[in-house]
Amino acid sequence: MNLDAQHPLATGLTADSRLIRAYQGTRPDKTPVWFMRQAGRSLPEYRSLRVGTRMLDACLEPEMASEITLQPVRRHNVDAGILFSDIVIPLKLVGVDVEIVAGMGPVLGKAVRTKKDVAELTALDPSVLDTTLAPIRAAVARTVAELGSTPLIGFAGAPFTLAAYLVEGGPSKDHIHARTLMHADPDAWAELMAWTAEVTGRFLRAQVLAGASAAQLFDSWAGALSLDDYTRFVAPASTAAIAHVRDLTYDEVPAGTDAADAASVRRNVPVVHFGVGTGELLKEMHNVGADVVGVDYRVPLDEANRRLGGLVPVQGNIDPALLAAPWPVLEAHVLDVLERGRTAPAHVLNLGHGVPPMTDPNVLTRLVSFVHEVTAATPAA
Ligand code: CP3
Repeated sequence: MNLDAQHPLATGLTADSRLIRAYQGTRPDKTPVWFMRQAGRSLPEYRSLRVGTRMLDACLEPEMASEITLQPVRRHNVDAGILFSDIVIPLKLVGVDVEIVAGMGPVLGKAVRTKKDVAELTALDPSVLDTTLAPIRAAVARTVAELGSTPLIGFAGAPFTLAAYLVEGGPSKDHIHARTLMHADPDAWAELMAWTAEVTGRFLRAQVLAGASAAQLFDSWAGALSLDDYTRFVAPASTAAIAHVRDLTYDEVPAGTDAADAASVRRNVPVVHFGVGTGELLKEMHNVGADVVGVDYRVPLDEANRRLGGLVPVQGNIDPALLAAPWPVLEAHVLDVLERGRTAPAHVLNLGHGVPPMTDPNVLTRLVSFVHEVTAATPAA
């Protein structure tokens, strides 16, 4: 389906941005940079705005969600905004009892452990999202109106990461109940994953239709899985989730041609797939229908590129721990990441996971200008 004519990709506003060009596999004038969790507790302006408002309430208040999304873009000169929201928002909006506990993460009123629990959960109708996602659409619309030519990234949790919270009932280190369920009751597991894929897929699609120029699926906890379990029990649902945005296209008129020539190129909305500790799964995570693979800090980008067959744009992978190291140490690491990233068809610089809350925001600002400067000076061969 073609995006609305007013969508920033369709109007051309964001279609030629560094981020979108890199996601399409070409190398723009400078390497684009954004940070996972660029919005949030590292910013004093975020902390003061959030006083008195609970996390999930802030996500559902379009004016606040939009303002929080814009804060890091104004401050750091990053090449993209990412919607301030959370992966559990669509669960909450279909009626799941979930809250976010500060310093912990999502906590469920009741863990989903048995076939009966799965049946109760999946009785919740995903089509209510058509109306309950209205505040998210409003937040996206407000944000893209402010962002202009800077693309907004929409995101969602991958089915496994969401199912891990649902089955565990909260954060977990080893996700043992989720991993037990997939083997102990594969039918209940498949039903849970299919439902979760639909809920999270609709959340992602709503953001793109409302104006986001790219989509990122976070499978933060997929690193807990063996390649075999990932392929059998998880990849089909991730494919289904991504399918909710895979059909979205826009027509681009190549620079220098007249729109009336009708020599336009049909393009799809780029999809990024990211996980933590997923070095063994990179190829499969690409195969579920992603255009770009996000790499955590454990696998160097040249090795990630090799595992991906040398054809896939990569995103990553500054070690967040080094943000607090002396600048020369961080600088050397950034140069190393950029150099390894040059082996891939295209590279978007990011962290290997989210910005730690105690990060000095001035370090992030400096990092963005350093990457822009140094990559402008040394264009790829
Ligand atoms: O990247 C961004 O700037 C966009 C915002 C964003 C948030 N959550 C806001 C948030 C994104 C992309 C997410 C995704 C998310 N949420 C993931 C996948 C990415 C990842 O980090 O692996 C996961 C696993 C969650 C679940 C979740 N929500 C966790 C683990 C936490 C942290 C809990 C804590 O206090 O440490 C949250 C809450 C949350 N989501 C915060 C933010 C800014 C912190 C809320 C606060 O200010 O107290």
